[in-house]
This record gives sequence, structure tokens and C-alpha cells, in this order.
Amino acid sequence: MANQVSAPRGTKDILPGESYKWQYVEQVFLDTARLFGFHEHRIPTFEHTELFVRGVGDTTDVVQKEMYTFEDRGGRSITLRPEGTAGVVRSYVEHSLFSQGLPVKSCYLINNFRYEKPQAGRYREFKQFGMEYIGSSSPFADAEVIGMVDMFFTRLGIGGLRLEINSIGCPNCRPGFYRALKTYFDGYRDSLCKTCLDRLERNPLRILDCKSPQCSEIAAGAPKGLDHLCGECEDHFESVKSALSGMGVKYSVNPAIVRGLDYYTRTVFEFVSDQIGSQGTVCGGGRYDGLVEMLGGKPTPALGYAGGFERLLLVMEAQCIVIPEPEPVKVFVAAVGVQAGMAAQSLVHALRRMGVSAERDTMDRSLKAQMKYSGKLRAQYTLVLGDEELTRNQAELKTMETGLTRTCGLSANDIALIVNS
Ligand code: HAM
Repeated sequence: MANQVSAPRGTKDILPGESYKWQYVEQVFLDTARLFGFHEHRIPTFEHTELFVRGVGDTTDVVQKEMYTFEDRGGRSITLRPEGTAGVVRSYVEHSLFSQGLPVKSCYLINNFRYEKPQAGRYREFKQFGMEYIGSSSPFADAEVIGMVDMFFTRLGIGGLRLEINSIGCPNCRPGFYRALKTYFDGYRDSLCKTCLDRLERNPLRILDCKSPQCSEIAAGAPKGLDHLCGECEDHFESVKSALSGMGVKYSVNPAIVRGLDYYTRTVFEFVSDQIGSQGTVCGGGRYDGLVEMLGGKPTPALGYAGGFERLLLVMEAQCIVIPEPEPVKVFVAAVGVQAGMAAQSLVHALRRMGVSAERDTMDRSLKAQMKYSGKLRAQYTLVLGDEELTRNQAELKTMETGLTRTCGLSANDIALIVNS
């Protein structure tokens, strides 16, 4: 149609017939989070741009190329949230959540916005599940967080994701690693992309994360963080690995994982699928022991992760995992005639008041068409109301699956008793 406005590129409508899948995954996530003592943290969809520039890092792709930033009518620079960690940490600092005792354990289900090139599993507005564990430097905190993701996937019935872990060190061992990276990449100055030439001066770690094929090829041969860890980081990483093994969580060490955001320290990890194409990272996270302080709080260790809903659902589809469909409507009340139409309205409302889902026709359908519609809704029971039924104050309640009918009174109570038994 000429006048039609379509959805912006990179966005996705979740239609009424498929939203149950999202709700199911959300519920399993929140249930699993509860088992681990995490509570939902709801943060704003937009924040001051400075939060992400400082928090995510001004040499990252997210900040340099992907943020939806605009000036609001008050002249402030505002950015639509590209990720949740910076907002949760801002909120933690702003509300002095440490005063309630550490660790603070937040989880979230949020929509984020990144101006990326859309493709399968990559959107400009996308949904994440995630959590942040603030206040503990213990390797057991790492094990808790990684173990939670693993259990979430298991409870969804997902198998075969690869958990890859790495350590990228701390401010003590970083300088040595950065020097090694700089020396290595200096030798490729002529081949690096323009952005990476700038990164070479400001943050050579980011080159490891560049999406350009040429830079990626060069990055494959770069020095590895694991070879430059200080003793404490080494011990921490060993303990995380032992804890995971003890919990029966399978992992492999991938020294190439550095993650695309600047705040990470020590442990980083990703859950990767081979079944959904090039955007196979379903979930990623790690420690960010310096972020709370960087955003104005006291020095506080922390870690977390976030995963993409769209990718998770693609994996579930690829693995033919059946998501339980919502229960269809319990009672459909078909009505013939003006008075019966009025009675049907009162009846469905009274049934719903009693917690029984009920529907009626509002499209002026014939009785035959109403019965067909009831079938389409997969109603469990159908009640036909006409003048005669109103006079008798009784009607036939049909169990749709068996075709059996039984006579019942027209009060919501009577009907509820039958359909709930
Ligand atoms: P991230 O790696 O930028 O990390 O994103 C986490 C996950 O979100 C990705 O692995 C992917 O599944 C999904 N995702 C990212 N961008 C898109 C997109 N454009 N379309 C669809 N899905 C996408 C973070 O966001 C960190 N805040 C994670 C974290 C929390 N680290 C510590 N705490």
C-alpha cells in the first residue's frame, strides 16, 4: 500500500501469536535467576551519553560507530541504551546499593539499541537477558555467574553450546600485554584499518576485536593475554576453571576472546553456537573490576554477562525445542439474538472475574460461523445461548474435544464449577 509505513531496518515485530515464546524464555530466565538469588533491576532505556562513553569506552565499536545519540529538547546529549552493564552500575552507585550489603545481584531483561548492519541474529533493537554480580572478587562469583547461564540454557533444553573462557588480566599485568600488542601491531601499520591505527595508539586490545577481515587476520597472530598474566590473575583463572569443573560445567579456554567493551578485566567468557550462522555468540560477559570506580563509586569488583534473546530463540528453533503454547480459552459463549448477545456479555465478564478465560463473538457472525471461530480459538468448552436458553435459564455446554454436551445453569458459578473440575 502506498501509504504504508514499515518498521525501521533492524527492528523486529513480535506478533501476538509468537510472544508466548519470549514470555516463556523470560520466565525460565527469571526462575533460574531466583534460584541463584538475583533480583530484577529495571534501568532507564536512555541515559546521559557520557555514561556509555566512560563506561563502555570511547575506543569501542559500540561507542564509536553504533550508538543512537541525540540532543534532547533541553540540549542534553542522550543515548539509547546499547547495553545494560553501565546503567546497572550507574544505578548501583547512585542508590548506594552497597549499603544493603554485598554482593548486589541484579538481573535484567532489556531492549538495547545499536546501529549495526542487520543480519540474521543481529538487530538494531534487540533484547538481552543479563545479570550483574557486584562486590565480590572471589573466583566463586565467576563460577556462580557462568554456572547460572549454563543452568538457564539447560533448563530451556538447549544443548551443544560451547562455553569459551579466557583471562585478559588486570591493571597490573595489562601494561606488559599492551606493550607486546603494540610492538606486534606496529609491524602491520600499513595493513590496519583507519580505526585500528587510532586504536594502536589509544587501546591496542580493541584491534583484536575489529570486524574488518584484514585486521582480524592480523589479530589472529597477536600475542595472547594468557601469556602475560600476573600471579594473582593466573591463580584467579585457575580457581575459576577448577570451580567450573567441580560444578560439571564444561568449558574450553580460548585465548582469542577479548570481548568488545572496554570495561573487562580478568575472566571473560562466551557461549557460542555453530547452528545459527555468523552471529553465533549467544551470550557473553566477564569481570569488570574497575567499572564501579570509573563511574564514581568506591573500588568494587564485579562481573556479569548478557545474552541475545533473538539468537537464543534461533538456537532453540534450530534444535527443534518445543516451547509450551499458552492454554487456549476455556469457554466460548456463542449467542443468537439481541438478548442472548447481552446475556453472553455479562456471562463472559462474570466468568473472567472468577478466573476462567472466556470469549464471545463481536463480529456479528452467524451461529455456524461462531462455532467455527470457537474451534479456531481451540476453546475447551462452547456454550450456545439463544432466546430458548434464556427462558429456560439453562444451556448446553459442549466439551469440544469429545463433542459431549451437558446441561448447565446460566450462572458463571455453575459453569466455572464444571469447567474447572
Ligand atoms: P555484548 O557482547 O555486547 O555484551 O552483548 C551480549 C550479547 O548480546 C551478545 O553475545 C549477543 O548475543 C547479544 N547482542 C549484542 N548485539 C546484538 C545485536 N545487534 N543484535 C542481536 N543481539 C545482540 C554486553 O552487552 C555486556 N553488557 C555483557 C555484560 C554484562 N558483561 C558484563 N556484564
